[in-house]
Amino acid sequence: MRNSREDYLEMMLNLKRENGFIRSVDIASGLGITRASVSYSVKKLRESGLITMSGDGMIEFTPEGQEIAERTMYRHEMLTSILMSMGVSEDTACDDACAMEHILSEESFDALMRFANTQSLPVHHHDFKKHIHHE
Ligand SMILES: [Fe+2]
Repeated sequence: MRNSREDYLEMMLNLKRENGFIRSVDIASGLGITRASVSYSVKKLRESGLITMSGDGMIEFTPEGQEIAERTMYRHEMLTSILMSMGVSEDTACDDACAMEHILSEESFDALMRFANTQSLPVHHHDFKKHIHHE
């Protein structure tokens, strides 16, 4: 499994932006995985203090969880934009961004961002619905 913690938080932020709320059942369909595996991961995220869940099953970020989710999504969008501006197809750019977002150091990511700024690359706002994250 790739860095699933960041993938989960990223998907949750995406759901929050689209629906205004986060529920486990929507995570399962968004990530293309079973509800059983979602509830296991949601439990681990709660134990790590990254999310909270109310009695009616609504999930909220803690400040730390929100920060990780936003950083991951920001990296995803910027890396997808950079790759697409270099001629990579959207699907491949998105898949590769999803891997790079977890492994790039701050130093390399910042350097890429500086490079992108000097080229004034357009920001690609990714449509996550079109893309299923892989576990
Ligand atoms: Fe991603």
